Amino acid sequence: MVRKLFRRRHLSHGEGQESLHRALGVLDLTLLGIGAVIGAGIFVLTGVAAATQAGPGLFLSFIVAGAACALTALIYAELSSSIPFAGSAYTYTYASLGELPAWLIGWVLILEYGVASAAVSIGWSGYLGNLFGSTGFYLPAELTHAPGDGGVMNLPAALIILAVSTVLALGIRQGSRLNSGIVAIKLSVLALFIIVAVGHVNPANWHPFLPFGWSGVMAGAAYIFFAYIGFDAVSTAAEEAKNPQRDVPRGILYSLGVCTILYMVVSLLLTGVLSYTRLNVPDPVAFAMTSVGAVNVARLISIGAIAGLTSVLLVLLYGQSRIFFSMSRDGMLPELFSRVHPRFRSPVVVTLATGIIIACVAAFTPIQRVAELVNMGTLSAFTLVALGALVMRRTHPDLQRPFRAPFMPWTSVLAMAFCLFLIAHLSRVTFVGFGIWTVIGLVIYFAYSRHRSVMAKAE
Ligand code: ALA
Repeated sequence: MVRKLFRRRHLSHGEGQESLHRALGVLDLTLLGIGAVIGAGIFVLTGVAAATQAGPGLFLSFIVAGAACALTALIYAELSSSIPFAGSAYTYTYASLGELPAWLIGWVLILEYGVASAAVSIGWSGYLGNLFGSTGFYLPAELTHAPGDGGVMNLPAALIILAVSTVLALGIRQGSRLNSGIVAIKLSVLALFIIVAVGHVNPANWHPFLPFGWSGVMAGAAYIFFAYIGFDAVSTAAEEAKNPQRDVPRGILYSLGVCTILYMVVSLLLTGVLSYTRLNVPDPVAFAMTSVGAVNVARLISIGAIAGLTSVLLVLLYGQSRIFFSMSRDGMLPELFSRVHPRFRSPVVVTLATGIIIACVAAFTPIQRVAELVNMGTLSAFTLVALGALVMRRTHPDLQRPFRAPFMPWTSVLAMAFCLFLIAHLSRVTFVGFGIWTVIGLVIYFAYSRHRSVMAKAE
């Protein structure tokens, strides 16, 4: 009985089943990563994190969170090179730790991508409102805020989710080409910010550098960890990569590297241009530019942020539909979720269905308040993936690993330690929400998935 809960997915399992179209190269994958990663974290959350948690030391928070991600990225790179199927952490855990842990991770990832998408779409709606506001045309508050947040519904947030889901349902080529264009815009506006901000830095703003001490830096790291979420989405695209063994690890590491450097530079400049005490605003990057009189730069940044948040949504929603796809293909969810459309070669039904559900969540709940749940989900997934890689090295020593994470087992051990350390800095309400979601997941597993899984049937 217990053994069954930990039955492992065979590594060749998946071949000959419904499969996705292989169209992505290393550049597409890196852009997919950057598209997923740079978003609400840097454009929205940095302000609050600097003002209330880390002060100018936010720069250090980005290094701490980035280090946790870098260690995990190496492990993701190894696993994605040796298990090149869609599904990311879920698939890796199924192969390494077994069915029940895999189910839980898949279940958590569904929450992670869903809540993250809703939270990002609300940030998107906020920047849109600001952009309109800067031209003197104010969007009605009732239609841009959820009930509980002073409105009736957040219409722009819902509409952008539906639009992005439709693009994805039409197939990956459209999705990834659009993504590449948006990533270019996003990187350009951040570069513009850096160039203009350098000339307006007042070093006095960096004193005191750690107004909230080291504990503030760590709490800041746990909070802005959100900014790094998404690089793992590159691995969810393994089945659509032309050469997954070589290109997925590179895509993961390149995109994480670019983002880490940008975050460090942007956060340092932001707190150098304005005192951290003034940064508690929803649009800190644009706000800093407005404050130094660069109004047109601020407008361009808002446009870039809107584009940037769109590309984050593109990848988060993509990632979520692929997790559903993998779980359904393994029999853990109904078969409907893995039906690939004959013409678009994408899981149309699940992509549109999740789009509609998340759009409703974004429209009617002030979900950004529970966005910390996303960090909790991701950090748990990372911890299990790091453990899984360790186990795989023992259980499958001869597995082909075109990319091997260096310094194993220490990389895994350190990655787990970092993630657990960050989890410990999250709030109590996050633990409660996460617990409830996990219990619901366990009920579904024991009532449905355990008996229906392909592995169970094979037995
Ligand atoms: N990393 C993504 C963002 O910051 C989720 O929006």
